[in-house]
Amino acid sequence: MSRIQTRFVQMDPDQPDPEILAEAAAAILRGEIVAFPTETVYGLGANALDSKAVEGIFRAKGRPSHNPLIVHVGSIESAQSLTSDWPNYADKLAASFWPGPLTLVLWKNDMVPYIVTAGNPTVAIRIPAHPIALGLIRAARVPIAAPSANRSEQLSPTLASHVLEGLNGRINMILDGGPTSRGLESTVIDLTSELPKILRPGLITPGVLESVIGPIMRSRMDAPVNSNESLPSPGMMLRHYAPKARLEISASNSSERIRLLASSGESVGWLTLESCRTIEGCIIRKLPQNAQEYAHYLYAALHELDGYSLSVIVVDAVPEGEEWDAVRDRISRAAYVKD
Ligand code: TXA
Ligand code: MG
Repeated sequence: MSRIQTRFVQMDPDQPDPEILAEAAAAILRGEIVAFPTETVYGLGANALDSKAVEGIFRAKGRPSHNPLIVHVGSIESAQSLTSDWPNYADKLAASFWPGPLTLVLWKNDMVPYIVTAGNPTVAIRIPAHPIALGLIRAARVPIAAPSANRSEQLSPTLASHVLEGLNGRINMILDGGPTSRGLESTVIDLTSELPKILRPGLITPGVLESVIGPIMRSRMDAPVNSNESLPSPGMMLRHYAPKARLEISASNSSERIRLLASSGESVGWLTLESCRTIEGCIIRKLPQNAQEYAHYLYAALHELDGYSLSVIVVDAVPEGEEWDAVRDRISRAAYVKD
């Protein structure tokens, strides 16, 4: 694709300048692509009601067209205006978790172009909890379709500089609101099946969702999904969220494994939960032992290690328990090797 000028604008994340928001909103309404922070990761936004603009997102990311986008809205009424059915579950979940990192999959109506949903009769919707994201949506007065602002399959961005690195020259504008607070993509739950069903684990855990709406179907992370099949949810692709370095998950004795790799000439990085000493020839980053905090730092640490052009990153396996599901899901997809 031909290179375009990418405008990079720093903003106060708590009190975004209304003038810049108005400029970004005008760009959205002209059909341009604007990256903006949400509380989870940076999104790559276009007017969700404008098929041509949405096409631009797929082009900029190199995203396959069978991979649907999340539509970001500023109010529950706006979410309802895109759907043909609004179940009780949606009312309860929206009341409990919006604005926030929960995406609801619902039956779409004719307002939503099929390019947004990759031909599916359903649409994924959320209200993000970030003043810049909300300010942009409300200034544009249209729903904004936005995947994570990374090239297809690569790591999601938690800093504006990550977006710039992947998409400079391919998008019109980047709103820099500093680091995102949550650091991991939203939980996606399908409300069109008999029983609500988790399609992508996130920081809102099944247990917490069940405390609001009762029993749900949990995602089966072991279910193999071939990327050529019609995807129940594209986040379910086996390889996803991947750094440039090869990623290895280590269940035990990581330091031994690292010494072996280093002695065979590999340049090695280590993401660990242990307090550890140094290992010669290895760049080590310690991550928090709390799942929410770990999630906050995971992508940033992987981006940082990737900056050293390592050949392999060893990641300690994370603990059992559903609060770690989202992190475990992202790490295992990042480690997946296509054949
Ligand atoms: O936190 C987030 O969700 C971030 C921020 C920017 O909002 N967005 C994000 O978008 O992660 P993306 O495109 O990287 O992932 C979109 C996810 C897919 O993995 C899939 O699970 C789900 O949204 N999705 C979108 N439309 C769907 C649909 N119609 N049916 C099922 N799943 C859908
Ligand atoms: Mg993504």
